[in-house]
Amino acid sequence: MAENRIFSGVQPTGNLHLGNYLGAVKRFVDLQEKNAECIYCLVDLHAITNWQEPKDLTENTLEVAAAFLACGLREKTSIIFNQSQVKAHSELAWIFNCVARIGWMNRMTQFKEKAGKNKEAASLGLYCYPALMAADILAYHATHVPVGEDQKQHLELTRDIALKFNNDFKVPNFFPVPEPIIEGTATRVMSLRDGTKKMSKSEASDMSRINLTDEIDLIARKIQKAKTDAFEIPEKREDLINRPEAENLLTIFSSLTNKSLDETIKIFCGSDFKRLKTELADLLIEELKPINQEVKKLLKDKTYLKSVLKEGSEKARVIADPILEKTFEIIGMVK
Ligand code: TRP
Repeated sequence: MAENRIFSGVQPTGNLHLGNYLGAVKRFVDLQEKNAECIYCLVDLHAITNWQEPKDLTENTLEVAAAFLACGLREKTSIIFNQSQVKAHSELAWIFNCVARIGWMNRMTQFKEKAGKNKEAASLGLYCYPALMAADILAYHATHVPVGEDQKQHLELTRDIALKFNNDFKVPNFFPVPEPIIEGTATRVMSLRDGTKKMSKSEASDMSRINLTDEIDLIARKIQKAKTDAFEIPEKREDLINRPEAENLLTIFSSLTNKSLDETIKIFCGSDFKRLKTELADLLIEELKPINQEVKKLLKDKTYLKSVLKEGSEKARVIADPILEKTFEIIGMVK
């Protein structure tokens, strides 16, 4: 994978949870180990598309940085930084605001969901969020982007922006058209309280999610209390239709053990949820306990965390600044 350049972003808006871990950070680590050039960004500019308490934004940015490191990302191997410190992101985003069409933005389902009923009151930033995301990726000429299912549409928009720019300015292949990497059993971890909703830091009940900072007894309790149904674990995957909570717990188990869902079903078929929950809680604790301890340790040294981000942003600038310069030149900006 040597010629590939991976870019991905995570919003520093709160604790990372199991969904972020299995769906994103764990895969970031795998890609790092495959020797690809990896750039992982804490997208603080995206975070403020909804108002953030400044103290919380600072705290959350450092917490996610700590979680990245605790999960196995290495600052010497991957580039880890926060978006606002590399100006190329905002500057290229402006250019892309002028490339993307309003019609494209109007099709974004995430905007519709996040803005809710009162679209007039949503921030303009929330509306042009996908152009900033395109800038994140294209400022590095990234070739591959690990994202969850919910970001697929934004990545398609990024591809459209790259193609339109290349075409409008007659610079074929200047911006590479990036590929999404959507893989893994648990790209979508669902809420423990409602298997039809994604596990999310914005859901009111903390019992709906496992946070990377949860203590072990709390993890055990959350799994024991997770919603299930009255049937036993079936023999076949097809029988999980309309049983989203059962499917979710089995999926999490599969992801933690690197098994397919079918293999996991074979292990548990015919038994009740008690056995699955006990084994799942044990596994989760084994996996998350060292991470939890490491996050706590790292958070005691904020100076170190800040220095990691600072060095990361310096390395990021070395890649992004010349690409931005070249973009200005292509457009005809006088220097
Ligand atoms: N929009 C992404 C999310 O909410 C975060 C993100 C911002 C991102 N910029 C990115 C992901 C660039 C991948 C690449 O999950």
